[in-house]
Amino acid sequence: MRTDTGQVFRLEDYRPSDYLIPRTELDFRLGEDSTKVVARLTIERRAGVDKPVQLELDGDGLTMRRIEVDGEALDAADFDATPDRLVIHTPPASGRFTLLIETELAPSRNEALMGLYRSSNVYCTQCEAEGFRRITYFLDRPDVLSVYTVRMEALRTEAPLLLSNGNPVEHGDLEDGWHYAVWHDPFPKPSYLFALVAGDLGCIKDRFVTASGKEVELGIYVEHGKENQAGYAMDSLRRSMKWDEEVFGCEYDLDVFNIVAVSDFNMGAMENKGLNIFNDKYVLADEETATDADFANIEAIIAHEYFHNWTGNRITCRDWFQLCLKEGLTVFRDHEFSADQRSRPVKRIAEVRTLRAHQFPEDQGPLAHPVRPRRYREINNFYTPTVYEKGSEVVRMIRTILGAETFRRGMDLYLERHDGDAATIEDFVKVFEEVSDRDLSQFALWYHQAGTPNLSVTTRHSPATAEFIIEVEQSVPPTPSESRKRLMHIPLAFGLVGADGKDMGFEGAEGATVEDGVIHVRKRKHVVTFSGVTERPVLSLNRGFSAPITLSIEQRPEDQIFLASHDSDAFSRWQAFNTLLTDAIIAAFRNILGGKQPAFGTDLTRLTGRIAVDATLEHAFRALALALPGEADVAREIGKNIDPDAIFAGREALARSIAEANGGVFAQLYDDLLMSGPFSPDAASAGRRALRNTLLDYLAMLPDGAQRAAAHFASATNMTDRAAALAVLAHRHAGSEEAKAALAEFDKRYRSDPLVMDKWFMIQATAPGTGAVDAVRALTEHPAFSIANPNRVRSLIGGFASANQTGFHRADGAGYTFFTETVLTVEKRNPQVAARLATALRSWRSLEPKRQAKARDALLTMQAKEGLSADLRDIIERTLA
Ligand code: PHE
Ligand code: ZN
Repeated sequence: MRTDTGQVFRLEDYRPSDYLIPRTELDFRLGEDSTKVVARLTIERRAGVDKPVQLELDGDGLTMRRIEVDGEALDAADFDATPDRLVIHTPPASGRFTLLIETELAPSRNEALMGLYRSSNVYCTQCEAEGFRRITYFLDRPDVLSVYTVRMEALRTEAPLLLSNGNPVEHGDLEDGWHYAVWHDPFPKPSYLFALVAGDLGCIKDRFVTASGKEVELGIYVEHGKENQAGYAMDSLRRSMKWDEEVFGCEYDLDVFNIVAVSDFNMGAMENKGLNIFNDKYVLADEETATDADFANIEAIIAHEYFHNWTGNRITCRDWFQLCLKEGLTVFRDHEFSADQRSRPVKRIAEVRTLRAHQFPEDQGPLAHPVRPRRYREINNFYTPTVYEKGSEVVRMIRTILGAETFRRGMDLYLERHDGDAATIEDFVKVFEEVSDRDLSQFALWYHQAGTPNLSVTTRHSPATAEFIIEVEQSVPPTPSESRKRLMHIPLAFGLVGADGKDMGFEGAEGATVEDGVIHVRKRKHVVTFSGVTERPVLSLNRGFSAPITLSIEQRPEDQIFLASHDSDAFSRWQAFNTLLTDAIIAAFRNILGGKQPAFGTDLTRLTGRIAVDATLEHAFRALALALPGEADVAREIGKNIDPDAIFAGREALARSIAEANGGVFAQLYDDLLMSGPFSPDAASAGRRALRNTLLDYLAMLPDGAQRAAAHFASATNMTDRAAALAVLAHRHAGSEEAKAALAEFDKRYRSDPLVMDKWFMIQATAPGTGAVDAVRALTEHPAFSIANPNRVRSLIGGFASANQTGFHRADGAGYTFFTETVLTVEKRNPQVAARLATALRSWRSLEPKRQAKARDALLTMQAKEGLSADLRDIIERTLA
C-alpha cells in the first residue's frame, strides 16, 4: 500500500518527458506467488532535449532482479533503485538505448487489484491510472506512447488461455507442461492501456465486419459454465460497433476484440486496447439472475468501453488532469447510444436523476472540483461523477450551442487532427471553435470552474404591450479554493407554452441571444423581452436539461401542474411533476418538525393517478414519474440542518396519501400490466415491468400489502420482479413473516451466485430505520460476503452508507462508528475501494448539528489513523477542510 507522501500534482507543472519509449517488449513467466517480468524498453531522448539527462522511471512496490543497458549489466554506482523509483544517472550519450529490467511480482498477494493480480484463479491486470508501475519500472504517464509486444509463459493446465493487447502473433508448447503466446499491438499506446489475462475461462465468439469490410473476431471470456450469460453483452458489443460507425464514423482497427469478465475489480470496466477487462457484474446477465437495470447497464458499459477505442485510445490524454477529455466525451457517446437504442426522453430523465444524485452533492460539497481539475494528491480519487457525468453534460452543451451538424463536423476534425495524440481539453474545444467560428472561451469555464450554477428566474406578462418578460440572474456558489467565480455561458432550452399545450410563437426577443429555442445566458443578469405574445404563456425552462444547473423559478403550482400535464418536452413534463412532489415532501417535512400532521392537496394525488394511467405516455416514463424523489434528493433541496428521519416520514406520508387516493386505479393497472410469454430485456418490456413494480410499492402500503408483495415474489419469473418484490417486503414490511420468508428463500436459491447475492445484501443494507446498522454488521459474517471483493463491499457497505439515510445517519452515531471501522478494515487491503466508500460522508455539513458533530468525529477518527493510504487520507482531509 502506498502511504501518503503529501505530494501535490499541479497542472501548471506539466512538462513533456525528457525520454520516450517507442518500443516495449514484455516477457512474463507467470506464477501465482512469483511472476518474472522481463521488460526490454527502447528508450530515446526526446527531440529538443540536447544534453544527456538522468532517466527517472516510476515504480510502485517493485522488486528488481536484473538491469542491463544495451545488453550489459549496469554497475551499482550507475543507478539507484528503490521499490518506487529507478534512476539511471548517466544514460548513453547518444540518447538512444535498450534498457532491460527484470522484476519479480507476487500476483496472489496483490489485494489492491492494481497491476498484476489474481481473480478467481485468473491472472489479470489493471493499469489505469498508475498500475503499470506495479509491473515494471516505466515512464508511467499517458503522454509516453509505445508499441508493445508481449510474450506470456504459463502452465498450460493452469492457464490455457493467454491474452494481451492487439493481435495474436504466435503460440506454442514449452517443456514441462508450459506453453507460451505472443501478442503484438501495432497502435502506440500509453502504459495505462496495457493488459494481460491468463487463465482457464469459457468463451463465446462472434464476428463483425466493419463498414470498410474488415473482419473482426469478437470474444467474450467468462467463468466456465457462465457462457450462456454472455449473450446480451455480445449483442450489445455488435450494436455498439455498428452505431459508432453510423453516428461518429468510427471503425474498429484490430483483427480481434476481446472482453474478459473478472469477479474482483475496483471499477466498472477498463478499455485496454483490444482487450477490455470488465467487472463481471457488467457482462453476465440472463432473466433469472439480472434485472432490467442490469441489462441496461451492461449495454451502456459495453458501449462505453468500446467507444473508448477512439475517444481514449486512438486519442488519449496528455496528462491525468485531462481525464474528462476521454471520460466526459465517452460518457456522452454512451448516453447517446443508449438513447438511440431505447427511449430518448426516458434515458434523459434517468441521466439527470443520476447526475443530481451523484454529481450535484459532489459539486456542492467539500469534494467539489472542476471537470478539469488543476491539482490532485491521488489521481484515483478523480474518477468522479464530476469528471464523468458533468464532463458529458459539457459536451452535450457544446452540441446544443453548435447544433448537431456542426458538432459532428467538430468531432470529425477532432478525430482526424488528433489521431495518435495525447491531447488536452484546449485541443478539444479548439476544433469546435474552428468549425463553428465561435468564441467558446467563456463557455470553456464549464471545464475550469467548479460548482453548480444557479439561475433565479422571474417572469411577467403584459397583455397591454403583448410582451413576455423573463428576468434571469446567474450565480455560482463558492467551492473549495475558488471563492470568486466568473460568469458562465449557460445555454437554456425553453418554450412558451400556450393554453392549448402547444408552444407559442413570438415576434422577437431582446436582452439576450435567443436562437433555435435556446436562450444564451452570459451576463450576470438578463431581462429578456419577447414581443408579440398576446396571451400569458407558461414558461418551460431548461428543457431536456440543456444545462446542468439549479433553477430557482417562481412558478405557481397551477402552472407546474399545467406543465406536468401538457409540456411537449417530456423531460420538462417529468421535471414539473417531480418538483411538485419534492415541494410536497418538503412541506410535510416542515410540518413534521413543527409537530403537525402532514397533509397533501388532492390536486397532486389526482394528477399522480392521471399520469399512471395516461396511455399516451410510455410505461417507463410513467414509472419514473411515479417514483418519488429519494430522501437524499429532498435533503439536497432543503440544503441544511437535515434531519433524515423527518424527511423519511414526510416522504412516507406522501407515498401513503398517493396510494390511498389511487388504490383502485393502481390495482387495476397493476393487474393489466402483467405480461405473459417469454422474457425479453427490451426497453418496452422493461418499462412495463418498471411501472408495475412501482405500483406494487404503493399498493404494498394498503391493507393486504404484504400478501400482495409476497405473491408477486412467489410468482415472479424473472429477477427484475423478484428483486423488486423482495425490496418492497424488506423495506415496507420489515420483520414480517412474509419478508423473512422471502429473504430466506432468496438466500437459499442464490447463495452460490455472488452477483445475485449482491442484490440481497443491497436490499437489506438499504432497509430504512435504526435496525439497519446491526443487520448490516451481522451480514458481514454471512458466508456469501467477502470484505476482499469490491462488489460485495459496495453492495453491503456502500449501499448502507450511500442509500440508507435513516440507517446510516442514525441519531446516536452508531452508523458512523460501524462505517469507520469497516472503511479502515477495507483500506488495509484495498485503499481505492476504501477511499470511494468514504465519500459517503461528503455532505456531512448539511446535517443537523448533533449528527454533524458525530459525523465529524468519525472523519477525525479515520484521519488520526497512522499509515493511512494516500487514497483515503486525500478524501478524509478534503472532506474535513
Ligand atoms: N477507464 C475506465 C472507464 O471509464 C474506468 C477505470 C478507471 C477502470 C480506473 C479501472 C481503473 O471506462
Ligand atoms: Zn471511461
